[in-house]
Amino acid sequence: MRKPLMAGNWKMYKTAPETRAFFQTFALLVTQSGHCEIVICPTFPNLAAAAEATQGTRIEIGAQDMYWAKEGAFTGEVSGPMLLAVGAKWVLVGHSERRQYFGETNQTVLKRTVAALEYGLKPIVCVGEKLEERESGRTEALLAEQFREGIAQLSSEQFAKIVIAYEPVWAIGTGRTATPEIAADAHRFLRSLVASDYGQDAAAAVRILYGGSVKPDNVKILMAQPDIDGVLVGGASLDPAGFACIVNF
Ligand code: PGA
Repeated sequence: MRKPLMAGNWKMYKTAPETRAFFQTFALLVTQSGHCEIVICPTFPNLAAAAEATQGTRIEIGAQDMYWAKEGAFTGEVSGPMLLAVGAKWVLVGHSERRQYFGETNQTVLKRTVAALEYGLKPIVCVGEKLEERESGRTEALLAEQFREGIAQLSSEQFAKIVIAYEPVWAIGTGRTATPEIAADAHRFLRSLVASDYGQDAAAAVRILYGGSVKPDNVKILMAQPDIDGVLVGGASLDPAGFACIVNF
């Protein structure tokens, strides 16, 4: 059985004091949430505060991005070993905002994922189509391309350690959630790609999260889809009570 993974992506929100205040409330609301894994991804400067605030809880901390080199003359970048050293266990890779604003490609997604695994971080690799791709009937072609170029180059051993997040770009931050049917179709399609490249066992084992305007009032119907194994939540993960509702769907 795939254990649900409920992840929050804080994007460029919250200071360190706001981070600590969030966990003071949130940690108490999820003490009984053994049905799932919980991951929060704050900004780089707040990883240490988040890791400290969640010590002794079941909440794990992730970064929103990382560079693939171990260290070096790469001004502004942050490496896997640095993330580990401040207590991060997870890392988002290839979020659509990284692809849209910061030049992320399927090739750099692959490099980051391989590096994250090498340093012992657990990557959540994001894929998803834009509105024009959906409207022109190219959703599956686009997902297949992101999968083949950005993920399917991993060995079976590497693949077994990643989580995939399906986030249709048109549903992110727009209040426009994919219907459970649209999300379920995309998840089924992604799982079929996994089956053809890595086999049935890998397809049955890999967790595929849904992301895009997940809220307390739509999480239940999304999580009721057999191929949806968790959620990646932006806006609604910033509020402790709201995100606890999502976690405890
Ligand atoms: P949203 O963002 O929940 O605010 O739509 C999701 C994401 O970007 O991961």
